[in-house]
Amino acid sequence: MAEAKNQSEHMFVEWAQGIQSDNYDVERVAELLKGLEREELHGLDVGGGIGRYAQLVCDQVPGCSMTVLDKSELAIETFVDDPRLELMSVDYFSFEPAQRYDFVIFKTVLHHFITDNEADTAALQQRALKKARQLLRPGGLLLIEENFYQGVMGDDLPGRLIFAVTRQRWIEDVVRRLGANTAGEGVRFKSLSSWSKMIGKENFALRSLVCSPTWGRKWPLWQRLPLISSGRFQGVLEARAKAAPNEQQPSYTPSRYSSALFNPPSILERVRHSWEKASQKLRWVLAVCALTGPLTITTCALSEA
Ligand SMILES: C[S@@+](CC[C@H](N)C(=O)[O-])C[C@H]1O[C@@H](n2cnc3c(N)ncnc32)[C@H](O)[C@@H]1O
Repeated sequence: MAEAKNQSEHMFVEWAQGIQSDNYDVERVAELLKGLEREELHGLDVGGGIGRYAQLVCDQVPGCSMTVLDKSELAIETFVDDPRLELMSVDYFSFEPAQRYDFVIFKTVLHHFITDNEADTAALQQRALKKARQLLRPGGLLLIEENFYQGVMGDDLPGRLIFAVTRQRWIEDVVRRLGANTAGEGVRFKSLSSWSKMIGKENFALRSLVCSPTWGRKWPLWQRLPLISSGRFQGVLEARAKAAPNEQQPSYTPSRYSSALFNPPSILERVRHSWEKASQKLRWVLAVCALTGPLTITTCALSEA
């Protein structure tokens, strides 16, 4: 187990070192923070690794500084040198700062908050969101970058299956070769609607979702089928801490988000939609046949004569 953890820590560091300023998520987060129109902003990057991502966000947002929190010793040893960043080497769940933040970011971190079973894992992830709510100033932003896995039968089925498989230590090597950097430890991904329900419970209002233009879009059928999944994607989800009745609601321009993703259609609706699409195609084929059929017969008849 210790060796698996070590291996995944090294992979996290390598991965973070490769983050570029034009990554869609850096740009999106910077755009949202600039939209707050504050001269100074202080945020918290939970599980922020070596601080590279926070550094790139600060580069793009004037007046921005961040506290980067991570429990990995390797991340601390390789932490970037930047006066705008404060490193907190602590477990998120025991972090008790005196201050509150303008924004809290979880970048590909929430799915690492796991225990050895489903129920406690769900409770832990919920606790993480509750804590984020307490750490935010009124009107503060919660920014979540996650890999979302959408299920066909039971919206959250792919996440459950991935958790069950990635936790297994006896197939750790095989699972790692298939691409899971936390093989033997486990990860618990969720669908977009599952996260939205959990966020809603903590009095957050969802504002926007921007998806990665590349990640997860091309998913081969052989990978999709075993998870009975309709798709996966990576996105930056923006939620805002709702103000309590006696607090003043700061002005904010809501951005667009996909309601179809937040409220996935039921199986019946999907079947009806597929049927409608298929019958539409069939009508086109029949129309083309009706038009070209007599023409072909006439041409054949004429050429025979
Ligand atoms: C997938 S990495 C993401 C790192 C960084 N956010 C990035 O995208 O480059 C997950 C990080 O979360 C950290 N982490 C996991 N659980 C944590 C916890 N309970 N408290 C603090 N950090 C944690 C790990 O040490 C690791 O650096």
